[in-house]
Amino acid sequence: MSAGILGMGKFVPERVVTNIDLEKVMDTSDEWIRTRTGIEERRIADDNTNTSDIAFAAAEQAIKNAGLTAKDIDLILVATVTPDHPFPSVACMLQDKLGARHIPAMDISAACSGFIYGMVTAKQFIDNRTFQHVLVVGVEKLSKITDWDDRGTAVLFGDAAAAAVMGQVSDGKGILSFELGADGSGGKYLYQDDRFIKMNGREVFKFAVRQMGESAVNVVEKAGLKKEDIDYLIPHQANIRIMEASRERLEIPEDKMIKTIQKYGNTSASSIPLALIDAVEEGQIKDGDLLVMVGFGGGLTWGALTLKW
Ligand code: ACO
Repeated sequence: MSAGILGMGKFVPERVVTNIDLEKVMDTSDEWIRTRTGIEERRIADDNTNTSDIAFAAAEQAIKNAGLTAKDIDLILVATVTPDHPFPSVACMLQDKLGARHIPAMDISAACSGFIYGMVTAKQFIDNRTFQHVLVVGVEKLSKITDWDDRGTAVLFGDAAAAAVMGQVSDGKGILSFELGADGSGGKYLYQDDRFIKMNGREVFKFAVRQMGESAVNVVEKAGLKKEDIDYLIPHQANIRIMEASRERLEIPEDKMIKTIQKYGNTSASSIPLALIDAVEEGQIKDGDLLVMVGFGGGLTWGALTLKW
């Protein structure tokens, strides 16, 4: 028995903002955004919808899809850098909204690596039998910390939530290996000031290309697998060129990399689980497939794991 995913859920806001829409409000072009990032459109939540609201929608669905009720959840972990408030945490707000028991609940701040950090944390409690069911949510309302006057960042981000209920799974499924890391000296390249996201795009790009490839290869080796055993790569959806670099390091064909960046942009902590859900729903990822998930983010942080679906 190993720790794996029992059910998943997602929520993306209805409002679609295309590159053409952005052309009208800032000095950018659809062509620039597509060729430099791979993004075509993103979802933006309305002013009355906050992070905990979209987290709730995804979490409810994940619990239902796991065949459970909120009362069955033993721990809530929410990966986000856009909480409703510094405190209470989104996890505590979610516990209340879901009507869960008075179980532990906390947020994880690891930016775009947050969901991998959450899954690995959940695994520890599941493996040592402390908890049976852990709800892990990746959620961001990045639009509220986006500087719409900064074309270098505004075109990149979107809002979304994706959730997984984790617990014991059998038949060799679940998490097979993982790697987590952080380099605080790179914090200056990607951070939030009093209000907005600030980014040195080139430095983040260089770090991401190196780290994503390295971590993806490391977790494959740690699991005792070979690159050719991997059915799908699910990289953090930050920039198609960064994603491609990690795919090339893993030496897997183009159609084996899950790609949703064109429709959602970079949704930070929700990007990897959102891509996983879409690929499962579309019948691309099937029972027993071997997956590599790998992400990087502000901190700087990184995380990767192999998972048998
Ligand atoms: N539209 C048009 N032109 C633009 C835009 C835009 N939206 N943004 C920047 N430019 C211009 C720049 O001003 C610059 O013009 P100049 O040459 O006249 O000075 C030119 O395009 C090139 O800019 P660069 O920054 O060098 O472009 P680059 O190829 O590096 O692409 C990008 C920029 C897409 C941001 C890239 O660096 C990147 O993807 N970096 C990683 C970003 C990332 O993944 N961040 C993760 C954040 S996730 C998290 O943890 C929250």
